[in-house]
Amino acid sequence: MKDTTNWIQRWKDAQTGWHRDQPNSKLIEFIAYLQIKQGDTVFVPLCGKSQDMNYLLSQGFKVIGVELSDLAIEQFFNENNLLYSVDQAEQFQIYQGENITVYCGDYFKLTKQMLNSVSAIYDRAALVALPVDLREKYAQHLYSIISNDCRVLLLTLNYPQSQISGPPFAVDEDEVGALFSSGFECQQLQCFNDIKNEPKFLRAGVDFIEKATYCLHKTGE
Ligand SMILES: C[S@@+](CC[C@H](N)C(=O)[O-])C[C@H]1O[C@@H](n2cnc3c(N)ncnc32)[C@H](O)[C@@H]1O
Repeated sequence: MKDTTNWIQRWKDAQTGWHRDQPNSKLIEFIAYLQIKQGDTVFVPLCGKSQDMNYLLSQGFKVIGVELSDLAIEQFFNENNLLYSVDQAEQFQIYQGENITVYCGDYFKLTKQMLNSVSAIYDRAALVALPVDLREKYAQHLYSIISNDCRVLLLTLNYPQSQISGPPFAVDEDEVGALFSSGFECQQLQCFNDIKNEPKFLRAGVDFIEKATYCLHKTGE
């Protein structure tokens, strides 16, 4: 069976069906929940070449991303005509552009020091890209590398996992609550069935696909 989570290979093969050419409408709709002001820094974990980073830059925010694939990062800078330089530090290659830094390497190796300027986090297709064991590790690591009072805008998907395999993996409200039960306040902002806009899921006969948006607030307590 093909390993769909061999991310580096997926980028080499251009198997990047999750990528969208427009910023995510839920980021635009719910960004105010992050309570950030111009000049603040937003961390985008598992960032790919997301146009959401461009949107954040266009709104006057700074961006820090982390991504395994150098191909993805180079495509991001080149396709958006952004100048960049590359440095090596510890276990990362660091791509630096104006108001944006993208760490090329493993999210799980990021340190709190690298994110000390971060005020908010935006997660689209990051948590749900990971299998269940890594999701717990992902949430714990996020808690350990962000500061108290940071807010996270989290987008998830939920569908009957027995009807189609991930990624993206199904993550329901109970799981989000459990993953972020300690040290975070968790508020679901929206949840709706969007099966009509998901042809792959429709073709596979999946009963529903719920898209949910959460605001998590790291209180540290
Ligand atoms: C489903 S894609 C989502 C990309 C982006 N968030 C978006 O919305 O377009 C997941 C991305 O995470 C990257 N990735 C997976 N595991 C990673 C890890 N441990 N550290 C950094 N990046 C990772 C993959 O290379 C891939 O680009």
